[in-house]
Amino acid sequence: MSRKIFVTTALPYSNGPFHIGHIMEYIQADIWVRFQRMQGNRLHFVCADDAHGAPIMLKAEEEGISPQQLIARIAAGRPRYLEGFHLSFDHWHSTDSPENVELSQDVYQRLKREGLIYLKPVEQFFDPVKGMFLPDRYIRGECPNCHAKEQYADACEVCSIVNTPTQLINPYSTLTGAKPVLKTSDHFFFKLSEPKCVRFLEEWLGAAGRLQPQVVNKAREWLTGKGDQALGDWDISRDAPYFGIPIPDAPGKYFYVWLDAPIGYLAALKSYFALGKARANGEPRSFEAFLAAPDTEQIHFIGKDIIYFHTLFWPAMLKFAGAPYRVPNHVYVHGFITVSGEKMSKSRGTGISPLRYLDLGMNAEWLRYYIAAKLNANVEDLDFNPDDFVARVNSDLVGKYVNIASRIAPFLLKFFGNRMPPLAMTQIAGVPVEAVGCLRFALQQSKLVRTALEERELGKAIRLTMEVADVVNAEIDAYKPWLLAKDAATNEQSRQKLGKICAASIAAFKALTLFLKPIVPALAADAEAYLRDQPLQWDSLDLRLGVEGFLPAGHEFGIFKPLITRVDPKQLDALFESDAQPVAGNRPATPPQPGPGGVTAGAAAVSIDEFKRIDLRVARILDAQHVDGADKLLKLTLDLGSETRTVFAGIKSAYDPEALKGRLTVMVANLAPRKMKFGVSEGMVLAASGDTPGLYLLSPDAGATPGMRIS
Ligand code: MSP
Ligand code: ZN
Repeated sequence: MSRKIFVTTALPYSNGPFHIGHIMEYIQADIWVRFQRMQGNRLHFVCADDAHGAPIMLKAEEEGISPQQLIARIAAGRPRYLEGFHLSFDHWHSTDSPENVELSQDVYQRLKREGLIYLKPVEQFFDPVKGMFLPDRYIRGECPNCHAKEQYADACEVCSIVNTPTQLINPYSTLTGAKPVLKTSDHFFFKLSEPKCVRFLEEWLGAAGRLQPQVVNKAREWLTGKGDQALGDWDISRDAPYFGIPIPDAPGKYFYVWLDAPIGYLAALKSYFALGKARANGEPRSFEAFLAAPDTEQIHFIGKDIIYFHTLFWPAMLKFAGAPYRVPNHVYVHGFITVSGEKMSKSRGTGISPLRYLDLGMNAEWLRYYIAAKLNANVEDLDFNPDDFVARVNSDLVGKYVNIASRIAPFLLKFFGNRMPPLAMTQIAGVPVEAVGCLRFALQQSKLVRTALEERELGKAIRLTMEVADVVNAEIDAYKPWLLAKDAATNEQSRQKLGKICAASIAAFKALTLFLKPIVPALAADAEAYLRDQPLQWDSLDLRLGVEGFLPAGHEFGIFKPLITRVDPKQLDALFESDAQPVAGNRPATPPQPGPGGVTAGAAAVSIDEFKRIDLRVARILDAQHVDGADKLLKLTLDLGSETRTVFAGIKSAYDPEALKGRLTVMVANLAPRKMKFGVSEGMVLAASGDTPGLYLLSPDAGATPGMRIS
């Protein structure tokens, strides 16, 4: 029975572009959603901009535009990020929408009918110049404890004492500088202290498996409080001027933004249904019927700073509003992302701008992989460390997983007509099992990977996956296919052995692609194209069918193209350079899309100055040698006119070393030296390659001499 799951991520405020914290949350949720889809479950993955509230109203005012104009501008920037990071939301909406007005007013009326809403006078600071009540964050003054000036009430930066705005000495409004005056006004309250609410919340928090234990503990602390600090009633109204949803029958009163924001989840879902997107996604029922159905699941992914709203106010609102509203099945909470150990500031973000990441042409799949590798199901912070990022992506994703296909594909093409060779099977306890250990291990491990993904233990899923990749690579090393290939054309035994290791490795590669697909979907799609297969689903892998059911002998493969490049550490330097602004200049409106071969077709533009930083030279190949133990490399000695260089070039498949000696070619002379297993490579020669096999070294026209500069 397939599950029907409505999934959301927290609605980002409309007052700025996404920062890396948002992207991290979306990547976590997107991986889980994709994993569920791959199991044949029906997912409705929606989000929206959180458009209301005083800060957005005031920011728009500062810019001299309407709040609607501000939120429209922010909304227009969203798709670049969502597409750029391969985030598969089914719909993106806004809390400033007719659906949200309707639903928020409806929920409110229902709570009122339940006797849970009441009116109470509240005395609050008022800015007489601006003519508005001041949210605490717009009031500063002297700390009554340590007398530090210009402190906010919520916590003095000097002595950490928490004050109320009225305790501040000489308070002033940061909007106008005016001295605020105390003024009384009636506010609407949601009566959370009502015994039926408290009872419900205790029960809700206690349900086994609904929330992470750390989250339950936090929420319980707030609910029961220490001493007399138990959860009080919730002030849900704000006075005009306010950018929000009007409260019915209460002129000049608006819902506090945190009331209409979570209802925005449902508004987004409703609009998704209204637009016919739910139907297109296989859901025949109406919005109301879907929401009310017992087999629907409602799941929210959020960060640790908003647990309070999502585990207390939100479920209570839904519960007492009644059907078709339903309480969330799960609220999955993640920690915060830090960068090199530093907390990011709410206003400035971190050293990493997601847009700059994309503009630099960095691969979204690298970030997805890295974040997944660092995530678990607990509420723990996660650190982005640049060196760690390079290491994980290059040595694991590229060096282990992608490498398997790069190692094996040439043999399949050359010796087996680019088809799956037969693989001997034996039986263990009545189950057919492949004779090559690495494949057996991959199939065994699949259950554990699946459980880890289900439980959001993404780091664990990746560790399990890489264990398999290690075993596959070790087995390739042990079989030494490059030696078998030497006489496979004439020696049947060598050929069979070669076939066996190729078959096992490529089938294991397919299993690894399946494991990694939710995490690196674009890379997996390219791998699927090479495997010439249906989109992989979890039931593609049925242990009982063995390899014949998974990748039958005789299956023809596609043309192998390099699947992903390594991260160049220099790209990380560029990412952290300057003040994390997006790369300036003329970027295309939509990010470059991977072409059919997975190669980025229209890579990001470079300036002439950037291009000139590359020192291209004519070089003469003085010597070319095979390298012991390297199946792709030739060691070249290059004459640059004034000096000679050693370069290891991956051109062995295309050139006989003897034929290279004496010819001219083109090299990058200022590439940072790279330490390789076989020695230091001091540059790079340039060669062309395309969709079909083959590699073509560049050479200058007659007359060029070694050392000439190319520009
Ligand atoms: N608008 C509210 C949410 C309303 S939900 C009904 C809000 N918006 S936010 O833009 O400040 O944050 C959106 C999400 O980003 C939240 O889940 C928040 O926890 C998350 N993050 C903000 N900074 C973050 C990090 N540094 N790291 C990870 N997630 C972070 O809160
Ligand atoms: Zn102080």
